Amino acid sequence: MANTLLKFGLPLAIVAFLYQAVLRDLIFLTIGVGKTIEPISNFPYTCRRIEDPRLSACEDMFLSDATRQLFLACSEPSARPQWMPNVARFNHSGRSMNDAVIAMDIDKPIGKGSFEYRVLRTVSYPVEKHDDANLHLVGMTGNDSPNTIELLLVNNKPSRDPHTGTILDNEAQGANSTIEKFITGPAATTMKHISTHHHTRIATPNNIATAPGISGFYITNDHGLHKTGYMHTLSQVFGLGDVTYCDTSTTGETDCHKLAGGISFPNGLLYHPQHNLLYVPSSANGNIRVYRPSFTAGSSIPTLTKIHEIHIPYPIDNLSLDPHTGDIYVPCLPKALEMMAGFEDPYNAFPPSTVLRVRRTGDLDGQGQMKYEVEKVLENVGGKDTPLPGATTVVRDGKTGRLFLSVGLGDPPARDRAILV
Ligand SMILES: *[C@@H]1O[C@H](CO)[C@@H](O)[C@H](O)[C@H]1NC(C)=O
Ligand SMILES: *[C@@H]1O[C@H](CO)[C@@H](O)[C@H](O)[C@H]1NC(C)=O
Repeated sequence: MANTLLKFGLPLAIVAFLYQAVLRDLIFLTIGVGKTIEPISNFPYTCRRIEDPRLSACEDMFLSDATRQLFLACSEPSARPQWMPNVARFNHSGRSMNDAVIAMDIDKPIGKGSFEYRVLRTVSYPVEKHDDANLHLVGMTGNDSPNTIELLLVNNKPSRDPHTGTILDNEAQGANSTIEKFITGPAATTMKHISTHHHTRIATPNNIATAPGISGFYITNDHGLHKTGYMHTLSQVFGLGDVTYCDTSTTGETDCHKLAGGISFPNGLLYHPQHNLLYVPSSANGNIRVYRPSFTAGSSIPTLTKIHEIHIPYPIDNLSLDPHTGDIYVPCLPKALEMMAGFEDPYNAFPPSTVLRVRRTGDLDGQGQMKYEVEKVLENVGGKDTPLPGATTVVRDGKTGRLFLSVGLGDPPARDRAILV
């Protein structure tokens, strides 16, 4: 019996587990079986692409409503498949040396549907032995105000020997990801470096969230502490991604603590100031986890209590907030495998995209549950002439109702971003 169990039971158990954990998500979420994808003409938007090679592979965006600038963290599409530590690409010789934050004036249209923009020069970024002269951008967030805008960026630089500066075997070691803080202002042309945050718990940072009145920041580690190897791969199956908080209240110190785990590929998290809640999406199995942060007296590290999970049957990328309405905009990847094909071959893949809006409609229902309404605001079937390739970030300008979409992975220059008016 025991033998038979071992012979058949165990593999069956493993297959069943894999089906549960991987295949079900893969079939129903990642491949997108059973999803009807609607054409863009069903939605009340007119879309256009901004065709500009400098505005390509923009992984993330931050809208400064106070100064009417859209900040974009841009790279080069051809470099993404070579160097993208978040998805285990470690060919450092193929990394982009042109990543930059771009400030776009969204109220100053020019040319064929574009806007005035400036490529921000970094000031006081300390280029030491263990640094590249330029940043390697992925996720970004900011704190907005009329005179000063604080930008927090994920910087995926290669690991180097701290004494000689020689690049180490990053395939084995993983990248040396840091969070960089800069400040900039209205009509920005430069951004001034304030601090570098480096910690073992800043391991596979995907994105960052800040909140008013706290002296630190939240990040998602999309693969937990597993930077490389088979545990990096398996971390998605076993849900080893986490939410980590880094306290910076002691000058010069970065003190990071894991607050929540068990998440498969957590991505662009969002702190919602009106709700005082942290929303954490998954790029592997969908849904948005809702956490309430709380601080106890005498501690600068919050705790997170999970209070809800918003059902969204799509892999999700970065969340963004419309500060005017409090709605959350959610870019989804209805066909994630096509998205991955786009990553490998950026010039020949045209995946569809979906944008959802999540609106809180009530505090608590009879079961003590939060109430949310999820609505599709835009969709696009994909294809060669699509104005909207699979979008990784969507930002809504509450003042004008426009949506700005960008594609971070492998978007060709001709299809970098779509502006919807
Ligand atoms: C690594 O990147 C370089 C530069 O783009 C390229 O020439 C090389 O073929 C890449 N190596 C691998 C193993 O893909
Ligand atoms: C990683 O970056 C930090 C902060 O810039 C630096 O102190 C450290 O030496 C670097 N480590 C490696 C292995 O590159």
